[in-house]
Amino acid sequence: MSPSPPAGAGAPPPKGFVIAIDGPAASGKSSTAQWVADSLGYVHVDSGALYRAATACRARKGGPAAEWTEDSVLEAASRVTLRMVGSWLEPLIDGVPAETEIRGSPITSQVSRVAQMPRVRAWVNDRVRATAQDFDVVVDGRDIGTVVFPDAPLKIFLVADPWERARRRLTQQLERRPSDEEIAAETERLVKRDSRDSTQTVQAKDAVLIDTTYLTQAEQVERIVALARAVTRRPGDTSPVDA
Ligand code: C5P
Repeated sequence: MSPSPPAGAGAPPPKGFVIAIDGPAASGKSSTAQWVADSLGYVHVDSGALYRAATACRARKGGPAAEWTEDSVLEAASRVTLRMVGSWLEPLIDGVPAETEIRGSPITSQVSRVAQMPRVRAWVNDRVRATAQDFDVVVDGRDIGTVVFPDAPLKIFLVADPWERARRRLTQQLERRPSDEEIAAETERLVKRDSRDSTQTVQAKDAVLIDTTYLTQAEQVERIVALARAVTRRPGDTSPVDA
């Protein structure tokens, strides 16, 4: 397979409005992005779900993850398609939803390895950019405001204390209150993944930093929607902006 250009090279500028939401694992990016997209009538693109889907396709073929080649991941990833479900762009594998599989721990533990592969990054970025040719989008990930859409008119970088991120993630997964021991173990896993993802998790210089540790999700969404409305205001529009 011939080498692809670096992720970002030569892509046409997005036709729609782009809101980029970046941040570390379990900082609430995806659920916040979905809610913001619903509030504004935009499409939500979860770039992490594409890395997860590519990883799941390759995992299905078997073999030790340490020996997966970039070519074998890309070949396997050709089974991924996208379908619109309301305002959410869902990755399918062989035309079938794979949400539970891609969010499971076997995939979570290998996805960072796959996400280091430059041509896999280009594969994800091409799909994300193609969506922004057709729709106004809220895209969440790690490098959306720096690499994928460096000219996005609104960039958000979400952070939260690792313990709080772990607590939220477990509460969502277990549908009950997690114990301190469970939170401690999840915090360790999250911090390890943060470190594996550290090269691509970059806050753009012009991103608005929001620390969600003490915010409810409704408050985070409200802030981002208010910022989006402020950025998209037409000249001469004097209606008040809620902040
Ligand atoms: O967002 P989520 O945690 O589901 O992302 C899964 C993985 O995909 C991350 O741990 C990271 O390795 C990778 N990723 C990335 N760049 C993005 C989005 C996700 O490297 N823009």
